[in-house]
Amino acid sequence: MRAAVEAADAGLNVAVVSKVHPVRSHSVAAQGGINATLKSTDSWEDHTFDTVKGSDYLGDQDAIEVLCREAPENIMELERMGAIFSRDDQGRIAQRPFGGAGYARTCYLADRTGHGILHVMFEQLQKHSVYIYNEWFVVDIIVRDNVVRGVIALELLTGKLHRLHSRAVVVATGGYGRVFKTTTNALSSTGDGMALALRTGAPLMDMEFVQFHPTTLRRTGILMTEGARGEGGYLINSEGERFMKRYAPEKLELASRDVVSRAEQREIDEGRGVDGCVLLDLRHLGAEKINERLPQIRDLAINFEGVDPVEEPVPIRPGAHYSMGGIMTDVDGKTPVEGLFAAGECACVSVHGANRLGGNSLLETIVFGRRAGRAVVDFCRSSKLPEFPDDALANAAREVADILNREDGEPYYLILDDVREVMQAHCGVFRSREGLEEGLEKVRKLRERYRSVYLTDRGDSFNTELQTVLELGHILELAEVILLGALNREESRGAHYRVDFTERNDKDWLKHTLVYRDEGGYRIDYKDVTITRFEPKERKY
Ligand code: FUM
Repeated sequence: MRAAVEAADAGLNVAVVSKVHPVRSHSVAAQGGINATLKSTDSWEDHTFDTVKGSDYLGDQDAIEVLCREAPENIMELERMGAIFSRDDQGRIAQRPFGGAGYARTCYLADRTGHGILHVMFEQLQKHSVYIYNEWFVVDIIVRDNVVRGVIALELLTGKLHRLHSRAVVVATGGYGRVFKTTTNALSSTGDGMALALRTGAPLMDMEFVQFHPTTLRRTGILMTEGARGEGGYLINSEGERFMKRYAPEKLELASRDVVSRAEQREIDEGRGVDGCVLLDLRHLGAEKINERLPQIRDLAINFEGVDPVEEPVPIRPGAHYSMGGIMTDVDGKTPVEGLFAAGECACVSVHGANRLGGNSLLETIVFGRRAGRAVVDFCRSSKLPEFPDDALANAAREVADILNREDGEPYYLILDDVREVMQAHCGVFRSREGLEEGLEKVRKLRERYRSVYLTDRGDSFNTELQTVLELGHILELAEVILLGALNREESRGAHYRVDFTERNDKDWLKHTLVYRDEGGYRIDYKDVTITRFEPKERKY
């Protein structure tokens, strides 16, 4: 939406195509905040350093500098657009401490920051008269001779396929949390844009780096914001111990997410958990502070776990939360396919490297959304509308009909459950060669089974079964790519922890993984990491 507003503001004819209504996009669930240096005692260079260190030195430092340097002006611009932020005693935008940060630089709107920003962006779309193709599901990005031509989308209301002919396409479809069984992500986070871009020939970068958020609810995986620890919440084990002092003596609960999630998993695995969880203790904050700063957290814990954080500690555990990897882009959102851009979680610029800091993802969507929008304007002004291939619509229709018309086969939900179980068991917080190889074999078998998936609903209108089957194809594709990257990377860095290669290995692995899809299957390549200011050193919190 940020890219669309920028391009429309410059006079381009822009459409947003979304499988859900735009304010149901998963950014609505971003709770804790958005980072920017707003005070003279902080600096964008310090924000850059924290982000580089958080990334375990895999982030590209030139891109991280752009993210951090441009953050303050983007926050001010959001505020001018109408975004509301919580205030401090002097009436300035309030900022709270977040994990892995050396300064309290996370701006927030209580624990509903994404909600606030998303609604303002939607309002801006309408103000700029952007066309919204709402509940349209993109089934193909059309590329010929490495030039983008537009997309083909399924109108969910009618079941009709449409071609949308365009000079440029910006993929902004978010993450793939639903590849895993336990996730903070919405049902819609199935990685569609990443899978579709991969099929056009664009590479996916660093897909093995999956962030597991340390505080997700036991039963549902719903996010309990890092802001809860930023406001002073403790993590305790079954013995009542604040165990983070053994893992991160300085930063404790506010170490980076990979460190905290591993610590929790160890506590659970070594028998100091409570029902497969550890506990988030907010009681000492008191009802007034919880109600003012963390009202949604309290509601969610009461409604989905039956636990009131004012009275009792909340059972939480690590859950899949964010994809550091994605479609390879430069700092203007450009991919190697002409006219194809990407921004936000589905893209890999790379500003998060091996582990993202909390508060940097909303920031990424805004900073790089705006930059991608500007780059699209330049691109469209200097290019002609390429032809839309005659056969593209018919090919897409044939593929959809092939799924719809199968006479028998296997129901999709068995495969969907299985792939999520496999990813959870074989590609989680701790990984090993044996486990990853087994996972890869299982996912390949599931992909075979997917070929004969069978639908019971043949209807046209809101055929959610068909949509789920298409999403399942994307999930399976990404699962294989994630496993491949994880198996290949024989080191531990950030969120990727190998029990058989427990150290970070800069000599062999200070490089990005690229995965291409070509005729022979997947091809792996590598790309250097850009280092500008900060030489890699040991990471301690
Ligand atoms: O914990 C959170 O509020 C999540 C924030 C983020 O992922 O940036």
